[in-house]
Amino acid sequence: MDELSLAESRLLLALRDGKPHSATSIAGFGTESEALVAADRPVRLGLVAMQESAQQRAELSAEGRRALAEGLPERRVAKAIAGKGPIALEKLAALGVPAGDVQVAVGWLRRKNWAKVEKGPAGTLLTVASDPAADEQETALREPTKAPGKVLADLAARGLMVLKESRSRTLLITATGAKLAANVQFDVFDTSEVNQVTPELIAKWATMSAAEKAKQRLRPFDFDVPVTVPSPGKPHPLTHILSEIRSIFWSMGFTEIAGDYVESAHWNMDALFIPQDHPARDMQDTFYLAEPASLVVGKGDLDRVAAVHESGGGTGSTGWGGKFDRAVSQKALLRTHTTNTTIRHLAAHPKEPLKAFGLGRVFRKETMDATHLPEFTQIEGIVTEPGATFDTLIGLCKVFFARMGFPEVRFRPAYFPYTEPSMEIDVHYNGRWMELGGCGIFRPEVTKPLGVRDNVVAWGFGLERLAMMRLGLKDIRDLYISDVDWLRTAPLR
Ligand code: PHE
Repeated sequence: MDELSLAESRLLLALRDGKPHSATSIAGFGTESEALVAADRPVRLGLVAMQESAQQRAELSAEGRRALAEGLPERRVAKAIAGKGPIALEKLAALGVPAGDVQVAVGWLRRKNWAKVEKGPAGTLLTVASDPAADEQETALREPTKAPGKVLADLAARGLMVLKESRSRTLLITATGAKLAANVQFDVFDTSEVNQVTPELIAKWATMSAAEKAKQRLRPFDFDVPVTVPSPGKPHPLTHILSEIRSIFWSMGFTEIAGDYVESAHWNMDALFIPQDHPARDMQDTFYLAEPASLVVGKGDLDRVAAVHESGGGTGSTGWGGKFDRAVSQKALLRTHTTNTTIRHLAAHPKEPLKAFGLGRVFRKETMDATHLPEFTQIEGIVTEPGATFDTLIGLCKVFFARMGFPEVRFRPAYFPYTEPSMEIDVHYNGRWMELGGCGIFRPEVTKPLGVRDNVVAWGFGLERLAMMRLGLKDIRDLYISDVDWLRTAPLR
């Protein structure tokens, strides 16, 4: 057990006689609360026993004080009519009984058996034979401290008394406490306690005599005292992961690119050689906008992409055939992937080697469940340079996920209209594979018309699923529920 503080030692000594002491009068303590503060740890350690009891105190209300001065209503009526024979209720007013008191008075005259009450053809008649002796309610009004609880409760119900509860505490030393009290070596009343060690105190200490030092006690630390855990501000776990992803790409020499949520079908789909009748373009999958319903796309862009879709546009492909619909291409929508930003970047810089990544919100008509959100974030990127190959892509994906803390990844063949070959990437977590996104090498239909010469390796991963695994969440929706306890305790690593 830790050493006793000065106040605790004083308390134990004050209780040494082994008798119960009211906490309001402990020798050496000015107030009850001082004594209770000192008793807190001794009580927790079983050195002192504390007993609490509640007492009721009765006080006269304003109405009660009037009753004490003028008599209870039933007393006033009894006095007015004692020995006068039966009196009709209506006549009481003439005898000076206030109308408001009559009902109460009649009720209690009856209950206290002070009056005979008869109902006759002439109305209610009261008879009080002689002025009755003082009853217990009247005695209680005069001396509430001596009155039985039941009578006080009746008076409280009549609104004549107010009952208040007060608590008192008694402190009693235990056998363990007594043993410790016997060991207190110093003079508790001629010693002062040092609560904080300051540079000044340390300097002074060197100059102090042994006798002076003996009168200074260092207050012991209490390591078990309950304290509030500080919760300083910190970034949201998702924000934190986003900045981690940025540093990974930056450290590999990537540039960050970004674009708008509102996009034309042209840049979201057509420029990526997604056929205009592709099922994912349906209203069931894509949010088309009413306002603006369309976005203007440059004639050069429309001509080039139309040629690719209709006949391959000199890329060596036969295209999708049919007639390319320029109105469909200019429909406005909420982007369904961040590959729109990638293809715009590529169109703007067709002749340069590029290493670019983007982090952005995308929108799909998904039914929300534990692993799907209709709005989520993609981690998108491309590399194009002489010598960029399939291996470049696989290597980049592996390095990225390993640096995010997932060394085990798996690639499965997949299909996207804009890449060939195409793959889906799974990450191993908690004994199962979780699908995290797609990747591939852009098809010539996408890159050639722009004048891009080298391979373009590209990927798009889902941020929230990655975050879910990193944070050990079972439900993706929890990321966007601002549960304060979770936000406080979620680790940022
Ligand atoms: N855009 C794809 C998706 O949203 C991911 C992807 C990006 C696939 C780039 C291949 C190349 O799922």
